[in-house]
Amino acid sequence: MAEVLGVALVGCGTVGTGVARILRDHSDRLAQRGGRAVELRHVVVRDAGKPRDAAVLGALVGTSSEVAIADPAVHVVVELVGGTTVARGVVLAALAAGKHVVTANKALLAAHGPEIFEAARKAERVVCFEAAVAGGVPIIRALAESLAANQVTALQGILNGTSNFILTAMADRGVSYADALGEAQRLGYAEADPTLDVDGSDAAHKLAVLAQIAFGVTPKSGDIEKVGIDRVQATDIRFARELGYTIKLLAEAWTDGPEVALHVAPVLLRHTDMLAQVRGAHNAIQVTGDIVGETLYQGPGAGMMPTASSVVADLLDLAVGRAQRTFAAAKLWSTAPRGFTLTPSEKVRSRFYLRLSVADQPGVLAEVCRMLAEQGISIASVIQHEESATTAHGVPLVIMTHTAETGRFRAAVRHIAGLPSVVEPPVYYSVAG
Ligand code: NAP
Ligand code: HSE
Repeated sequence: MAEVLGVALVGCGTVGTGVARILRDHSDRLAQRGGRAVELRHVVVRDAGKPRDAAVLGALVGTSSEVAIADPAVHVVVELVGGTTVARGVVLAALAAGKHVVTANKALLAAHGPEIFEAARKAERVVCFEAAVAGGVPIIRALAESLAANQVTALQGILNGTSNFILTAMADRGVSYADALGEAQRLGYAEADPTLDVDGSDAAHKLAVLAQIAFGVTPKSGDIEKVGIDRVQATDIRFARELGYTIKLLAEAWTDGPEVALHVAPVLLRHTDMLAQVRGAHNAIQVTGDIVGETLYQGPGAGMMPTASSVVADLLDLAVGRAQRTFAAAKLWSTAPRGFTLTPSEKVRSRFYLRLSVADQPGVLAEVCRMLAEQGISIASVIQHEESATTAHGVPLVIMTHTAETGRFRAAVRHIAGLPSVVEPPVYYSVAG
């Protein structure tokens, strides 16, 4: 059997502990599949005094990534610190020292992909990142390898497990937003700073990674429009249900010829839509290819063992030597043009859900309809419950539109928001299908 593959884990919290357990508990299976033993040699953490899982304590536990990287018995550095500062330094140092890198860090790839991949090519080393998008769902390999004959024409995904967990808990169990977020944190789904989960940033980072593979585009911070679930109200979940829809946080890539629009936002999906049925911390990605048609990938999108499963798959690819070949062929985050350019989402066509809080008086609906009509937007249905009590917050008026250009719809909403009879900022979401 070939030389042992020596591994250093830099960062060993939720995901790192899962990786250590797999390396300990399945060593025979991994050696057989990788053609060589895979051994955990160093674990680097912030606080070496913290109690650790027994699987972690089989390695040298310390606080110096330099010591771990410099050890000639370490061939792969697995970065599981998170964030973009310490993690960037660790990854660049590992590559400069001639070590391969495995990372689950989508924020790092979204912010520093070109620099890291250039450094890897220069060092003739590999960066693997299956765990960075959708946890245990093998979407990176699916896009980069299994669909390689296709040009992706559309991509739609539930990419943040924490947000999906919260929305599901609110809709199915009536749990409050704050309690659901606390539960997601206790279960190890959330980022160290959970704002990134709930404000759409984490899904945008993952969409940036998928868009690099699918279209060769490198969105900068701000190029991906994002709205999170932190402002989704129980009222909208109830109205959506009444209309036959479920609210999900979707990350979407929309193409029109060579233009790609990327955005993350809560979207109304029909209850019968496959993505609407994805519950809890599960993720799902629907990818349409010009040859294959529509495909769907689904599974656990966050949490210790699913994410560790993807990290260890990368280690096996390195052990076998597959990763070295696919890395060289894929030319990710390189300057090689692929012909796609980024465009804002204004041209994307969609149906819309619009909820207004209005004064219950004559002529309000007529005014709102006129402003939508001025932008060429036609109304599909209107709900105003007879029994709605009039309060200082007005009464809810929900309008579903027919398909319209996003830019024109937003212009209409800006005008509607200025009406004296509209007493709170309008709430709107696009409606899929
Ligand atoms: P975590 O539980 O917060 O663990 C972070 C680890 O990094 C801890 O062991 C911590 O040390 C260590 N650390 C922090 N600062 C450090 C420093 N300056 N030097 C050395 N070590 C340091 O995070 P996680 O949930 O495992 O996530 C790790 C990465 O995986 C992140 O990039 C995350 O986005 C990604 N990811 C997570 C999931 C998930 O479901 N959790 C899924 C997919 C991807 P101490 O133990 O001493 O505190
Ligand atoms: N915090 C992330 C999520 C972890 O909830 O999806 C998986 O990347």
